[in-house]
Amino acid sequence: MRTTILDIQKMKQRGERFAMVTAYDYTAARLADRAGIPLLLVGDSLGMVMLGHSTTVPVTIDDMVHHAACVVRGSAKAMVVGDLPFLSYANADRAVDAAARLMQEAGVQAVKLEGGAAVAPIVRRLVDLGIPVMGHLGFTPQSVHQIGLRVQGRSVAAARQLMADAAALADAGAFAVVLELVPMSLAQAVTARLDVPTIGIGAGAGCDGQVQVWHVLLGLYDEMQPRHAKRYAELGKSVEAALRAYATEVRDGGFPTAANGADMKAEDLAAALAATDGATT
Ligand code: KIV
Repeated sequence: MRTTILDIQKMKQRGERFAMVTAYDYTAARLADRAGIPLLLVGDSLGMVMLGHSTTVPVTIDDMVHHAACVVRGSAKAMVVGDLPFLSYANADRAVDAAARLMQEAGVQAVKLEGGAAVAPIVRRLVDLGIPVMGHLGFTPQSVHQIGLRVQGRSVAAARQLMADAAALADAGAFAVVLELVPMSLAQAVTARLDVPTIGIGAGAGCDGQVQVWHVLLGLYDEMQPRHAKRYAELGKSVEAALRAYATEVRDGGFPTAANGADMKAEDLAAALAATDGATT
């Protein structure tokens, strides 16, 4: 049985913090599921870490469906949340179509979209149709060309706006809200005022949950080293060392050895060669 939106609601009520991590493929999802991570986000950050774009803006709904389906196949216990990509929720009808693809073709259990009061009617429409929706406030990467990559909500007006946006999302039926690059004290205040869980990234320990990007958490992506991220492993370095060792052994004849292959009886090979050689002379 996968984690449900009710489960994470109960975690908030019990004051139990929870982790979410991004995943974009089958193997990663299996590992995260085995590690007991209750929420997997197929984030449109895949645009950068999987597809090599410089922002999330070029990511399409086809990209999202493709990767989300792999994550769903690789997990059995975690709730899988899929990002609605840039402009796929520009109006309610488009949002319904995009969410339908993520839920029906990929099999995710929930979708996430960026924005506050302005997208609340879209959140309401999706929720009314039975689609669990996670909100995303603060630094919203799909708007990077408009707002820049920086902490959001620092001024009085911006903090008030962020609190109003969080309330609007919760009122519209969002089951959780991601707070990205938000001052820690503001994130804590929002968390205390919202009935639904907040999930922070660069928003401090006062949120109900935390989310991190797979490649950054595991040291696989060095184009971005955000202050708010902690590298729990240096897999990039391990992978590079392993690949160097492999290439060296192939060059030097250390790989493969007899243990890495299967063989046949010498007399069978001799008979096969005699027949072949006889036929060609
Ligand atoms: O796409 C993503 O990975 C995200 C997280 C940073 C929350 O939206």
